[in-house]
Amino acid sequence: MYICLEGIDGSGKSTQIALLEKWLKDFGYDVLRIFEPTNSPTGKLIREILKDPRATEDNFQKTLALLFAADRMILMETIKAAEGSGKAVISDRCFYSSIAYQNPQGVEDLNRKFYKDWLYEINKFVKKPDIVILLDLDVEKAISRCDGNDSFENKAFLEKIRNRYLELAKSNDFFVINANNGVNKVHTDIKMVISPKIGRCV
Ligand code: TYD
Repeated sequence: MYICLEGIDGSGKSTQIALLEKWLKDFGYDVLRIFEPTNSPTGKLIREILKDPRATEDNFQKTLALLFAADRMILMETIKAAEGSGKAVISDRCFYSSIAYQNPQGVEDLNRKFYKDWLYEINKFVKKPDIVILLDLDVEKAISRCDGNDSFENKAFLEKIRNRYLELAKSNDFFVINANNGVNKVHTDIKMVISPKIGRCV
């Protein structure tokens, strides 16, 4: 089982992943926890670029799209091996982050489709998660939790990303959870999504 948590910066993914990992382990599951960008050299380069004030510009986004796709390719073998040995894989982000974030801001509709197709193409060999949970949160609240080091952590940009996530959720059957609620309520909502898949009670 490959579970991915998605959401805008500051949506609380790390906290919820830690709780989910503990809950699954308490049931005796072996869990592999992963995250994107990874700690590979490519992942480190990505983190540097994210600090650049021009990171939201189209050419930077295209470069980032390629780097994110390259970074996640390395993860695929790890995921396959973990699944092969019966582990549950929990990921902080997956290729849907690229579809939500690396979308051009200033192009007309025709080019947008062309660009979106390219994003899917460069992520063609990437494994799709079995379950995607979207933590949906007001941008104001999310921003207040960010340290402001990355260029993506700005209100106007994250509003667009949040809307893209909600569109993606509809067309890809994500489980959308209201992350404005307290940590415990969000954790319970996540458990309610996962428990039927593993035949357990919340
Ligand atoms: P994030 O999960 O916020 O990592 P951290 O908690 O370590 O800062 O991810 C870093 C940023 O990378 C975040 O702004 C989202 C962005 N991102 C993309 O733009 N595209 C992608 O494909 C991925 C995986 C992340």
